[in-house]
Amino acid sequence: MYRDSVHYLPLHEKITDAATAAGHIRNGTNLFISGFTGGYPKMVPRELARRAREGERFKINLYAGASTGELVDRVLAEAGVVNWRRPYMSDRTMRTMINRGEILFKDDHLSSLAAQVRAGNWGPVHVAVVEAVAITEKGHLIPTMAVGNTPTYLREADKIIIEMSGAEPPELEGIHDIYIPEDPPYRMPIPIYRASDRIGKPFIELNPAKVVAIIFSDEKDSPPTFNEPDEVALLIAEQILDFVQHEIRKDRLPPGMPWQSGVGDVANAVLGGFMEDDFFHNLELYSEVLQDSVLDLIDLGKVRAGSGSALTLSEKYRTRFFNELYRYKEKIVLRPVEISNSPEVIRRLGVLAINTAVEIDIYGHVNSTHVMGSQLMNGIGGSGDFERNGTLTFMVSPSTAKNHQISCIVPMATHVDHSEHSVGIIVTEQGLVDTRPLAPRQVAEAIIKRCSHPEYRDMLWDYYQRAVRERGGHEPHLLGEAFAMHERFLRTGDMRPGRGKS
Ligand code: COA
Repeated sequence: MYRDSVHYLPLHEKITDAATAAGHIRNGTNLFISGFTGGYPKMVPRELARRAREGERFKINLYAGASTGELVDRVLAEAGVVNWRRPYMSDRTMRTMINRGEILFKDDHLSSLAAQVRAGNWGPVHVAVVEAVAITEKGHLIPTMAVGNTPTYLREADKIIIEMSGAEPPELEGIHDIYIPEDPPYRMPIPIYRASDRIGKPFIELNPAKVVAIIFSDEKDSPPTFNEPDEVALLIAEQILDFVQHEIRKDRLPPGMPWQSGVGDVANAVLGGFMEDDFFHNLELYSEVLQDSVLDLIDLGKVRAGSGSALTLSEKYRTRFFNELYRYKEKIVLRPVEISNSPEVIRRLGVLAINTAVEIDIYGHVNSTHVMGSQLMNGIGGSGDFERNGTLTFMVSPSTAKNHQISCIVPMATHVDHSEHSVGIIVTEQGLVDTRPLAPRQVAEAIIKRCSHPEYRDMLWDYYQRAVRERGGHEPHLLGEAFAMHERFLRTGDMRPGRGKS
């Protein structure tokens, strides 16, 4: 029955077991895998971990589309076999090892990554391991619900291992739109003019001669858990929706611009807000990852088209999706991440982008990746692709973290992923500041007054006032004091004076 999903008969002779397949991966292998929240291989990583447990000493360089599940990042990190990991990841175990300096890591703007691999900047693609739901009669590959960088990895690989997934149906064929742009200087415009446009092929071209192993798996992606948005997320979402409505009513923004929303509670709350709102209809999503809420919005007739690089669904929504795949397939397009996040397309479509920050400073510089300036959280992912190129870009954050012990509005960001030159509108549950028409000192005053939490407002205002008086300048700072709140937190566990341990 499994063989039925491999319609290209010459490849039947490559069907084997996981141990034989993983035998192609050795010490020093650059291993490029499919996976973009889901859609990652499961059997080969487990086999590598088994070999490590049994005493084989080897290290691999692991490159994915973005985050994967615990069957990849946790299992391989725990096995101690990862030398390099790129790009974005979100696994706690791997994060700890990266922060201890045991795994080398660097994140990249996801839109630019495939081209770097094609240019050879990441070294040779020794082995690609990818998950698929089918191989067509002509030997083309139908990926699962995550495209990511798989088309480029397959094109560049010396050897290809395919994990055929029995957990997702071959009827996914037709949902993908695979297009690899030419690289400069031969690149032509990417001809996407609406979120729903299809410009490529519904499969990934595969050179069967490179396929060294095909294995079968029934293993599912680890299901994501989506929380009901809390009050803070709802307040942030409400302000974003109000702001956009206001801009449309004032004729400063045409209606019908597509939306991108990053991962997390606020993104869900915004999409949830569409469901209860009468103003927004015929919506288009031009995003990186599509989640549960896209199905609800399609069912309500609110979404005309949803485009992303991956569709990540909870268990309940997966069942619903697979049961009515034929219907959802008409509205959803899954693309390589260099297309879903393409700066050119994002600018052309005029995307309205919402992404989450770890901390935001009073002049609007944003840290999305490093807690207290040092500890990696996940990575920049696609946030920069959208923040730099969207028509309206919202950078959101609760005003505090860790039960108010941390202010997410700070005098100076301890790490900058998005500078004032890319950041547009800043929103916390306290309020919203449109930084676009403001000079830096006006931005600082507005952010402190409207976005910071009342418990931190006086502290930030005092800092800013003294910086203006004592240092002056275009963006006044007291360099010896700019990180005093962070240092207090590291010393006492609380940014507020007198509240933490002494
Ligand atoms: N200092 C220290 N910790 C902070 C913090 C701060 N200023 N702000 C948030 N945190 C902690 C939270 O307490 C929470 O910790 P926990 O996991 O121990 O509970 C954790 O960071 C996550 O914060 P949360 O409020 O749950 O937000 P989230 O799930 O929306 O994640 C980011 C926020 C910034 C980590 C996440 O959005 C991200 O990785 N962004 C960068 C990539 C991106 O934007 N991708 C989308 C592009 S399409």
